Amino acid sequence: MSYSCGTTVVVTLLLLVVASSLSLTANANSFESLLQLPRRQSRSTRPRSERLLHVGKFGAKGNGFTDDTKAFADAWKTACSSKVKTRILVPENYTCLLRPIDLSGPCKARLTLQISGTIIAPNDPDAWEGLSRRKWLYFHGLSRLTVEGGGTVNGMGQEWWTRSCKRNHSNPCRGAPTAITFHKCKNMRVENLNVIDSQQMHIAFTSCRRVAISGLKVIAPATSPNTDGIHISVSRGIVIDNTTVSTGDDCVSIVKNSSQISISNIICGPGHGISIGSLGKSESWEEVRDITVDTAFISDTANGVRIKTWQVISSYQSSSLRSADEENLTCLLTLLTREGVVWSQKLSLGTSR
Ligand SMILES: *[C@@H]1O[C@H](CO)[C@@H](O)[C@H](O)[C@H]1NC(C)=O
Ligand SMILES: *[C@@H]1O[C@H](CO)[C@@H](O)[C@H](O)[C@H]1NC(C)=O
Ligand SMILES: *[C@@H]1O[C@H](CO)[C@@H](O)[C@H](O)[C@H]1NC(C)=O
Ligand SMILES: *[C@@H]1O[C@H](CO)[C@@H](O)[C@H](O)[C@H]1NC(C)=O
Ligand SMILES: *[C@@H]1O[C@H](CO)[C@@H](O)[C@H](O)[C@H]1NC(C)=O
Repeated sequence: MSYSCGTTVVVTLLLLVVASSLSLTANANSFESLLQLPRRQSRSTRPRSERLLHVGKFGAKGNGFTDDTKAFADAWKTACSSKVKTRILVPENYTCLLRPIDLSGPCKARLTLQISGTIIAPNDPDAWEGLSRRKWLYFHGLSRLTVEGGGTVNGMGQEWWTRSCKRNHSNPCRGAPTAITFHKCKNMRVENLNVIDSQQMHIAFTSCRRVAISGLKVIAPATSPNTDGIHISVSRGIVIDNTTVSTGDDCVSIVKNSSQISISNIICGPGHGISIGSLGKSESWEEVRDITVDTAFISDTANGVRIKTWQVISSYQSSSLRSADEENLTCLLTLLTREGVVWSQKLSLGTSR
């Protein structure tokens, strides 16, 4: 059972969720000041000592069909062991084909990956033979990383979608890669990038802290299966701003003990909307707290913001709701409870902040 929010819904809401037995203590307005987000460095203050590593210098061909994985790994190794701030550059006219790759830390100094061109995945799932099917670009154990550049990361997911059991029930249900995973990363930024046609989820943050995300465009066909936009798990202090997600699935999904998540100026849909949970499935104990959604343009989605939980929701609060379509405010916040019943809260209109 689900609602369809057919029209554009403009949401300015503050949502605090504690899906647990604990009571809510944090003041939602105060937590943003607690977040010490990595600051953007202005060009004028960027030290001259920054080292620039062009992937072409490491042997990348950038033609879209030669395997550039080794060149990329070599560039990463050099950058990561550099004692000075380093920038890896994928120039605008390069299309680098990368097989599944681990980009791990810790690195000695601040590192920027500037994707001005394109990174594409192998289109054949067999390229994952013998490797973890859940990863493609896997960043882990990093601090002070910036990924930016205005370019595109393309998961080439079509063949994975065809083999999905959601597309064709005679296929076995097996996982597919998340295009970009950040695991155990902190004080990092992801900005000004297009992430398209992921094999499954587009971008996942797991066990991360203090991440600033802005200027992302995450796009896949509405019919692509399970292609969540931004997935957040066991993470704290994630700020998402000025971002468009249009993938046919969750625009942002927040699970497992995540907190201090702030989403603003997001364009979301088509898809499932912004999802919190599932929480507490199979008797586990999970908490999600301090989530704010401020100015979301949600359209053509199954829900606006939904909370899926098997636990008791001890508190949530919403304020300053505005909708392009007052009648459809019930689409904004949907709670799915233990019984699997959709419970929609009729929310009253407030004045915008
Ligand atoms: C609310 O959304 C539903 C589903 O898209 C639609 O059928 C209905 O006409 C909408 N209500 C208004 C008042 O636009
Ligand atoms: C990109 O442009 C540079 C400079 O114009 C040129 O030397 C290089 O061959 C181009 N590389 C690719 C992969 O097109
Ligand atoms: C579904 O998968 C089966 C087995 O792989 C295949 O024979 C069939 O043609 C597929 N159906 C569609 C509609 O693609
Ligand atoms: C929002 O992001 C886009 C790229 O997606 C960028 O061009 C634009 O400048 C950003 N706007 C703001 C206000 O940061
Ligand atoms: C969430 O945190 C609680 C308490 O720290 C812990 O017991 C539980 O295992 C955590 N759950 C997950 C999924 O990490």
